[in-house]
Amino acid sequence: MQSLINLVNENLDKFMEITYPEDIFKSMRYTVLLPGKRLRPVMCLEACQMFGGKLEDAIPAACAIEMLHAQTLIHDDLPCMDNDDYRRGKLTNHKVFGEAVAVLAGDALLTFAPQVIVKNSKNLGAEKLLKILEEYFKYAGAYGVIAGQVADIESEKTTPENPEKTLEYIHIHKTSDLFKLALRTGAIIAGADEKQLDVITRFAQNLGFAFQIADDILDETSTFEQMGKTLGKDKLSGKLTYVSLYGLDRAKADLAQILDDCEKILSENGLKSDIFDQIIAKIRIA
Ligand code: IPE
Ligand code: IPE
Ligand code: MG
Ligand code: MG
Ligand code: MG
Repeated sequence: MQSLINLVNENLDKFMEITYPEDIFKSMRYTVLLPGKRLRPVMCLEACQMFGGKLEDAIPAACAIEMLHAQTLIHDDLPCMDNDDYRRGKLTNHKVFGEAVAVLAGDALLTFAPQVIVKNSKNLGAEKLLKILEEYFKYAGAYGVIAGQVADIESEKTTPENPEKTLEYIHIHKTSDLFKLALRTGAIIAGADEKQLDVITRFAQNLGFAFQIADDILDETSTFEQMGKTLGKDKLSGKLTYVSLYGLDRAKADLAQILDDCEKILSENGLKSDIFDQIIAKIRIA
């Protein structure tokens, strides 16, 4: 796992050269290069390897997905969204660069990331390139993460008619969608067929869902030192989370169950991966 993380870090640095106007590139690089867990790019690379693809082929897309993820974090932390001062153990982007540059850095990353893919993945051929770009725009946009974030923010002000369904919608879009993007992109680059893509999509949907349950649990039970962000804010802002709706015990039980399902999806389909085993184990301890 560490060697894949190192590979991602080296390439992220390489893809994001500072040019004029320097402030925007500095702001983009700030959040991207802070030590995140690099889960999504690692999953993209591992999915590519799992379906027999070459690691190098997936590096630009894996890095682009981490840039997109950093964009969602920068905007998620803004005063008009979750209003957070710390991310990845350091001050949030807008605290360092100001709100205007942070908004622009998010916009810039959202559009810079697909350029990284296009510029550096020509060897994949037009068909695969078009397919992975289509995935990127679908999951990054108004049918994807943005849809989840809007529903998340609205949940602070209004009680939805069907909270169970709304919470499921929020988790699937704000979190599972980037997991699906990462895994599907790696698999497409490897040349996986539709059946394999269905399996990996189901796995990613469940893993992302579990990951957000764990994040909701940790918001109540963990520490700044462990998570690198201010915790306890979900409750204060009256957010609809897995814990606020079902309570801590049920959240923990459901998390374990969904992670068991994830393991089952892999084993029933003959997919073996130490990396995914490690990721599941890490999410389990929430
Ligand atoms: C944070 O994601 C956003 C959520 C979906 C909860 P991560 O916990 O993967 O954040 P980094 O990349 O490690 O900072
Ligand atoms: C974040 O959910 C999802 C995205 C950033 C898209 P949260 O708002 O719970 O993530 P944290 O807790 O701030 O990392
Ligand atoms: Mg949020
Ligand atoms: Mg947040
Ligand atoms: Mg959270």
